[in-house]
Amino acid sequence: MSITDTAFQECINPDCGAEFDCGQALFKCPKCGELLDARYNWDRIEVPGKLSDFAARWANRSNRLDFSGVWRFRELLNFCEDKYKVTIGEGQTILQQNDAVAQYVDMKPGCLYLQYEGLNPSGSFKDNGMAAAFSHAKMVGVKSCACASTGNTSASVALYAHSCGMKCTVFIGSGRIAFGKLSQSMDYGAQTIQIRGDFDDCMRQVQDVCTKLGLYLLNSLNPFRLEGQKAIMYRIIEGLGWEVPDWIVVPGGNLGNSSAFGKAFYELKQLGLIERIPRMAIINATGADTLTDLVNSKKLAWNNGRVNQAIIDDYYADLTARNFSPHTCASAIEISRPVNLKKCLRSIDICNGVVRAVTDDEIRDAKAIIGKHGLGCEPASAATIAGLRHLRAEGIIGADERVACVLTGHALKDPNVTVNYHKQKQGKFSNPPVEAPNDLDEIIKLIR
Ligand code: F0G
Repeated sequence: MSITDTAFQECINPDCGAEFDCGQALFKCPKCGELLDARYNWDRIEVPGKLSDFAARWANRSNRLDFSGVWRFRELLNFCEDKYKVTIGEGQTILQQNDAVAQYVDMKPGCLYLQYEGLNPSGSFKDNGMAAAFSHAKMVGVKSCACASTGNTSASVALYAHSCGMKCTVFIGSGRIAFGKLSQSMDYGAQTIQIRGDFDDCMRQVQDVCTKLGLYLLNSLNPFRLEGQKAIMYRIIEGLGWEVPDWIVVPGGNLGNSSAFGKAFYELKQLGLIERIPRMAIINATGADTLTDLVNSKKLAWNNGRVNQAIIDDYYADLTARNFSPHTCASAIEISRPVNLKKCLRSIDICNGVVRAVTDDEIRDAKAIIGKHGLGCEPASAATIAGLRHLRAEGIIGADERVACVLTGHALKDPNVTVNYHKQKQGKFSNPPVEAPNDLDEIIKLIR
């Protein structure tokens, strides 16, 4: 194993600040237990002088790293040598300008963009992160890995583990996972363990299992996974002709994306590659709204890294005392103890962020609108449009600001929510199938 001198790991706790080389598989700081960041010695990396320089790689699609929507930005996540870099073609995603959805959220034509991550190999944004995390895993010689998941992480881990020749075990909450996702982890050959509990229970168990058995953890506690997810922001900027939007809107679950996105913008600004940082809106479901509660009601904030831990401890103690388990139709974000909470608070600080929660009815309606006018998405992704609608109504986001919503997962991930919405006429935009006799004239009468 050869470790580059371009990157290292650092504890996010300013009172600790311990540093480790990238040759170690660490998922929290061994000294103080806080989250770790991947950090770079930028003076040892040849970063292009401007972001548009990355466009030159489009012409070189036969190079697997230039083709990858993550690795064509490789100077911005330079923690391993090329020989370890894993790609299965992730990040061939598009930024779709969408005026019909813009109208639904009361925005002016030309202002709303949907960053559609459903086009990834396993159908969700997770593949961006896995390309990076599996590269690190290969660099440190991993044979077996594991994750807890609400479904998409497990699908992505199963796919990448298979392609890297690693064994993998995924932990999912019994009855808590959408069918499309469950089918993927089984089909891609992962050992799938259904725990009688929710995602938060799985997350706790997988950390202990990984520690006891020395398995490599692929949840977003893994700092290298979040490095890959930064590329989603690079591609939004790329889709806007190398310009920065005014707002990024993202669903909030375990808070890995929001953490990665804030870090991406911070670094780009630090490198002089962008002049301003966009604002960020993070959208919870009301049935899993820990972040919203902590930030908006309890006023929890990054506070230069000195987050008030007592507020978090009290909040979680209350959840435990009430035996609270989160519930939302957006099963991907059905999480009440988000592991990246502190990094997300840092992103809110970097991006002057706001947090909102939306109801399941709002999510289902927004999903139907995206389905009808866009590329479709799973419920968690639609929380962005439902949240944007709130923020427009409140006047926090202007009708003519440029907004990019991250549609995190493919519509086929969760067919049950879609079929129930339409067949059971659950919302304003339900489009149920029409029963017809097996008779030509009768069928013709029904065609509208
Ligand atoms: N959208 C989708 C489709 C997801 O699968 C997830 C998370 C999120 C949003 C939330 O992203 O955690 O970065 O805030 N899914 C994880 C999983 C938890 O296990 O698949 P986050």
